[in-house]
Amino acid sequence: MESSERQLRAQMGFFHDLVRKLAAQGDPYAKVLTAPDNPYPAYEEIRERGALYRSPLGTWVTTDHEIANQVLREKRFGVRKANGEKVPEFMNFDNSMLGLDPPDHTRLRRMTMPTFNPRVADRWRGRAEKICHRLIDDILATGDRFDLMTAFAHHLPTAVIGDLVGIPDEDRDRFHLLSREIVPLLDGVVTYEKARGVDAAIAGMTELFARVVARRRADPREDMISRMLPLVDEGRLTMGELLPLCMFLPLAGTETTVNLIGNGVLALLRHPEQWRMVAERPELAEGVVAETLRHDPPVQTYRRIAHEPVELAGVSLPVDGELAIVAAGANRDPKVFTEPARFDITRANRNDTLSFSAGIHYCLGASLAKFEAEVAYQALISRLPRLRQAGPVRRRGSFIIRGMREFPLSVS
Ligand code: HEM
Repeated sequence: MESSERQLRAQMGFFHDLVRKLAAQGDPYAKVLTAPDNPYPAYEEIRERGALYRSPLGTWVTTDHEIANQVLREKRFGVRKANGEKVPEFMNFDNSMLGLDPPDHTRLRRMTMPTFNPRVADRWRGRAEKICHRLIDDILATGDRFDLMTAFAHHLPTAVIGDLVGIPDEDRDRFHLLSREIVPLLDGVVTYEKARGVDAAIAGMTELFARVVARRRADPREDMISRMLPLVDEGRLTMGELLPLCMFLPLAGTETTVNLIGNGVLALLRHPEQWRMVAERPELAEGVVAETLRHDPPVQTYRRIAHEPVELAGVSLPVDGELAIVAAGANRDPKVFTEPARFDITRANRNDTLSFSAGIHYCLGASLAKFEAEVAYQALISRLPRLRQAGPVRRRGSFIIRGMREFPLSVS
């Protein structure tokens, strides 16, 4: 084994041991990092320790809605170090928008925005409905039991994003396979073996997209790659920026939406009275989307780095101080939401969440994800009225992305 590999393995092992030790000693942030099946009690422990809590791991943590919202909209915080360097960690999104501060971030985001215009997103509704009904036909044809995640939830966002980005049909299977292997990138700290698997998958993706880009150059269509290639020719975008963007978008848009669908169905099955409300009034599916995003969001936490000394909530943050913004905790801040642990699709301020972030990194795919989930809930509720859970769920085991690996259901 190379010495650098040995070093990385030792570093990761050391970090995992430290997190486990601190969690056992009661540090609520370390508890979160161990990715418990239910992280919500740990978020409440963080809240009890104040608006900004400093973990012995060195990170400041907030579950306070007002503080989180303020930080996300402030120019004094970024996603890189103050000098523009990447924050050292085991994984990063390198040149994807999410890993860049202005001015590079501003330039890339502007170029991508036309693809995510809410009006464009709306055009996909008919296609999404067709996909959902075809998936449900397949489920009904196979028998009584199925796994929501693999038989339904994964397929919808993968198909929509494939169209949106411009991945040809014959490359979709390979693309889907490689995406699954890159997913640990979204899960934060991972094991050494997973990190190596991710590296190999990224190499595979790079090769796949280089081929797709060449095809789209020869045969442009109505998709993001075709739309962005002229910008490369004009020198406004480099291939080194286009490729990570192509890779990151499907990842950001798939794993998150898959879990929004899963988490919402789980909540509805646990609240049958609200399932019945949507069955009678399908337009209430919008409330299921919003309340699931608040109550059990697919992206639980993200972070910011102070670019200058900041005084916040009585705490002094130094330059390059790291702040974990626990959106899932802010979404249950009792100062903003009454009875925050209750799932209620009619909650008046259900949209006041931080589940898509806020400020300059506000999720570009928010409208797309929302209508995909809305269409999915409506299709499931209308076509499978007796849907019920048919076994224990298996969780993903990530402290960032919250969702299920397995969700067994029965249609009768
Ligand atoms: C339920 C589904 C989704 C959730 C919960 C979600 C959540 C988020 C969050 C929290 C961020 C910002 C993180 C931060 O501020 O550090 C983000 C950024 C982003 N998301 Fe999403 N997302 C979802 C779906 C999508 C979809 C469908 C797409 C694209 C097809 C997408 C594309 C992006 C992009 C490009 C960014 C980076 C924006 C920037 O840095 O300016 N997301 N998303």
